[in-house]
Amino acid sequence: MPTISVNLPANSYNILISSGSLTQLGEEMKQLNLGKKVLLVSNPEIFNDYGQTCIKSLEDAGFETCTHLIPAGETYKTLQSIARIYDTALEHHLERSSTLVALGGGVVGDMTGFAAATWLRGVNFVQVPTSLLAMVDASIGGKTGVNHPQGKNLIGAFYQPKLVLIDPQVLKTLPVREFRAGMAEVIKYGIIWDKDLFTKLEQAGDIDRFASINQELLQTILIRSARAKAEVVSQDEKEAGLRAILNYGHTIGHAIESLTNYQQFVHGEAVAIGMVAAGKIASLMGLWTEEEANRQDKLIAKTKLPTKIPTELDINAIIETLQSDKKVKAGKVRFILPTQIGKVIITDRVTDGIVKNVIEQ
Ligand code: GLY
Repeated sequence: MPTISVNLPANSYNILISSGSLTQLGEEMKQLNLGKKVLLVSNPEIFNDYGQTCIKSLEDAGFETCTHLIPAGETYKTLQSIARIYDTALEHHLERSSTLVALGGGVVGDMTGFAAATWLRGVNFVQVPTSLLAMVDASIGGKTGVNHPQGKNLIGAFYQPKLVLIDPQVLKTLPVREFRAGMAEVIKYGIIWDKDLFTKLEQAGDIDRFASINQELLQTILIRSARAKAEVVSQDEKEAGLRAILNYGHTIGHAIESLTNYQQFVHGEAVAIGMVAAGKIASLMGLWTEEEANRQDKLIAKTKLPTKIPTELDINAIIETLQSDKKVKAGKVRFILPTQIGKVIITDRVTDGIVKNVIEQ
């Protein structure tokens, strides 16, 4: 099975990517010498499609399983939902050697990881991502947590999984809009880290839906994206520096999500708009050629992702929201800006004037 390693000082693990690999979950976990008990956490829709395959695989490999379902959606990413996972863990007598398996998208993965980090001061954790965004980003790197009423992901912990198992076939039930949103993060890796990935996406035919994307290309996309994320996280697990480049497109993206009350755009769509804006900022500052910025924008448009900041958003409100973002350091907003396709820099030298100029455009 194609395997990518996340190499960390204390908690290294593998990402396995293979079509049909859901049926191998139990055997792969058995190799890791985990305890007998497994709590599978999912949401009802995903569990309905893939839960039984996972449970059969786990039980055939000798694990005892129990299940906890959380209703789908960001509104359930709360401490109350975590408390309910703890209740199920208690009811089924989970032990330190037990494992929480997250079967779902980013919300399920982040919450299951946080419950695993905190229950009994830490039990094992395995990620089985089912959305493209979770496969290429959220399931890798150990960021876990929940939302606070005042902001997204304000409560959390770095807690690495023991294994990430990716079965591309599960994407067949992912809504097209979610597939495209995941592709925004894939394009991000092309810009920040992997020029060849970017070129492959540019040269490919349809890349905006599972039903028409070439399956070999999809496998390549998953492998290269996971490798990019693994390499960055291996160099900077706790975001002391380099890892911040993964936030390319997220600075303005988060402001747009927040000002539209998380109703108008899904995360990847806001990131797509944020990447277009960051690209324009970089070329206005003379850091990036207009030609490369246009190549990025063309690829985003080809993926049928939005590229424009909604005109109804107030420029000053956007600037204010940028100031309150988590990524502000010592009062200065940090931007990730491309200098070439495949290379970015982190800078706090973007003035409000430049941001205003780009938003007005
Ligand atoms: N999603 C950004 C990170 O994992 O650091």
